[in-house]
Amino acid sequence: MTDQNFSLKINEATEYISGVLPEIPDTCLVLGSGLGALTDRVEVLATISYANIPHFFKTTVPGHEGVLVYGVLSGKKTLIMKGRFHFYEGHSTQEITFYVRVMAKLGVKNLILTNAAGGINPAMKPSELMLITDHISFLCDSPLRGANLDEFGVRFPDQSCVYDKNFINIMLGCAEELGITLHQGVYAYTRGPQYETPAEIRALKAWGADAVGMSTVAEAICASHSGLRIMALSCISNLAAGISPTPLSHKEVMESALAASENSIALLERFFSKLEG
Ligand code: HPA
Repeated sequence: MTDQNFSLKINEATEYISGVLPEIPDTCLVLGSGLGALTDRVEVLATISYANIPHFFKTTVPGHEGVLVYGVLSGKKTLIMKGRFHFYEGHSTQEITFYVRVMAKLGVKNLILTNAAGGINPAMKPSELMLITDHISFLCDSPLRGANLDEFGVRFPDQSCVYDKNFINIMLGCAEELGITLHQGVYAYTRGPQYETPAEIRALKAWGADAVGMSTVAEAICASHSGLRIMALSCISNLAAGISPTPLSHKEVMESALAASENSIALLERFFSKLEG
């Protein structure tokens, strides 16, 4: 895809969404595995199926529905991506971050990302939550590869503070108020769809990773390039390979993410209540 085509596609998707919605809120929330129920807590004002948005893809992962919800969460108007795209589904990294460009072009300022992740740090137990403070992305393609989209950001963007410090502090405060354990740590991004080998997990641990997963980071890189403020929350859905005494399964990941969803939802609701706007 040439950059000109890509920019045209971003514009088409942006125009479609802004034509359907009465206004564009400041915040977009992306729901990862097990968090679909959060929309039960939202006053839904409008929904748009991804199938109707030009150049969006169909989601293929169970639990990733493929609907953009415009609604009110804790008093804040929000765009909620119910389902995201993954590299392992066969899309390019530029394609899985297409929606982030569209959000930036729409005028969204904050991107709140959620996911399920394997715990590498022994302090992190299944169904506990981890705030991402930094990431390791160099095993995967950059979403910024190819001609730079100058209208969004610079060719060589700084990455020393991808995750907003103010958002991290707000989340830590919310967790304390609610009595919810909230770890902080480094998330290592892998391509999937196979889970890691025990040797890969040992290598990631030596690199300083606390958790591992197959989403979020490309979106965060793209969003930081576009100047968005980012917060990312992982649900530790399983112990990573080799740390876990049993083989990993998507079923286990989904079950733990669901078990943690009450805490994740409570935390996100409290966080949204504290957002400006
Ligand atoms: N590895 C990679 N991705 C994941 C895992 C894991 O252990 N758990 C949930 N997503």
